[in-house]
Amino acid sequence: MTERKQFRAIKGTRDILPPDSALWNWFEQTARDTFERYGYHDIRTPVFEPTELFARSIGADTDVVNKEMFTFGSGYDSDSMEESAPGLTYSLRPEATASVVRAYIEHGMNTLPGDVKLYYMGPMFRRERPQKGRYRQFYQIGAEVLGQSDAPAIDAELIEMLLVFFWRAGLDRTTLYVNSIGDKNCRPQYVELLREKLLKVKDSLGADSQRRIETNPLRVLDSKLPEEQAIIEKLPRISDHLCAECREHFTKLKEELKLRGVAYEENWRLVRGLDYYTRTTFEVTAAGLGSQNAVCGGGRYDGLVELLGGPPTKGIGFAIGSDRAILSIQESKNLPHLPGLAVFVAWMGAKCYPAAVAIARKLRDSGVSVELPPEEMKFKKSLGLADKLGARYALIIGEDEVASETYSLKRLSDGDQKKLNENDLLEYLESERRGTGA
Ligand code: HAM
Repeated sequence: MTERKQFRAIKGTRDILPPDSALWNWFEQTARDTFERYGYHDIRTPVFEPTELFARSIGADTDVVNKEMFTFGSGYDSDSMEESAPGLTYSLRPEATASVVRAYIEHGMNTLPGDVKLYYMGPMFRRERPQKGRYRQFYQIGAEVLGQSDAPAIDAELIEMLLVFFWRAGLDRTTLYVNSIGDKNCRPQYVELLREKLLKVKDSLGADSQRRIETNPLRVLDSKLPEEQAIIEKLPRISDHLCAECREHFTKLKEELKLRGVAYEENWRLVRGLDYYTRTTFEVTAAGLGSQNAVCGGGRYDGLVELLGGPPTKGIGFAIGSDRAILSIQESKNLPHLPGLAVFVAWMGAKCYPAAVAIARKLRDSGVSVELPPEEMKFKKSLGLADKLGARYALIIGEDEVASETYSLKRLSDGDQKKLNENDLLEYLESERRGTGA
């Protein structure tokens, strides 16, 4: 006897089912709509790339690259001798900035007029320990600006756009944190100073922080370990060690945020977990999420394009964790009104079927959502199903209606019923659709 195996979604992955998927679609559509108002355009990149692309851009010593990537294959391409060197692998993308920068260089997008403003949305993959708000396949909505200018107004407008989107999506109770982590002129000295100070307190630090003194001292500032907090508070702060240009950039960014009415908090410990950042870093946290409360992270990455073989270019961007953002919206109960099914066609008698098919098509063509039962149902059962499906109206088509070329439209919320001819019916349902925002 063969065993009957039941398959389940892999740990850390999940199915997004209706009605949640409608909320996801609405959330993503609101992002598209907002970003397009700010002049951003959609970019779609592959979900896997050469591992080396991520190692070079995100940093080979970061947790993301070191521990969390799903890597597979050996040799890129069997029919390209050049690329089939053994040991080369692909990885599922853990984020999309590296891919966007790769595409920017590959397609010579530096020759496009003005700043290149791009947005994307889709699944990302990190082999993290799954918990509430943390998955191995999760979804990001991101935006990137690439160009010649690093004007703080670009940073501020990007952040303004992000918060306008959150506001439109009903994601309130958020906090924006900003920081500057300096650039290649001032950060190396600060990192050395930090390393020196950390070496002095090494024995009081946990294993992760001890390791980071060597690999990336900045990341020690990220530590959440309670016993390290008092030590970290006494460490030198980057804001006291920025070069004049970085300090001015950060001051101007804060002025620009104020000009735009964007509330922020400074957080000198906001260093981010990816190596490509310079100057501006920011994060947004939201309520209702427990420990995984960062709904967005971003920052400037001037120099990343060059690092990946492109021309000198400035860049800044962010990525929103959709899973977490949507969870926070759901927990706040601040849900949008999503219209759902408008009309259930309750047809009775084989003679009425052609009229039911015809009117269902006309209504659908005019944008109304319609459910047409494929088989005849008893009237009571039909209305019961319409109710369970959440339809706003039942359109009753019996022999009387066919003979008089009218339709009976029953509003299911209060039982109100009216008889309408085809034109009036179409007009009525279309205006109802506009009223519900469907
Ligand atoms: P990140 O901070 O690594 O930045 O990720 C951005 C957001 O993705 C996080 O704030 C979080 O909401 C979400 N996220 C990350 N990992 C997970 C996970 N395992 N499960 C659920 N959500 C997660 C980046 O990815 C950068 N590429 C952002 C960026 C764009 N910087 C410049 N441009």
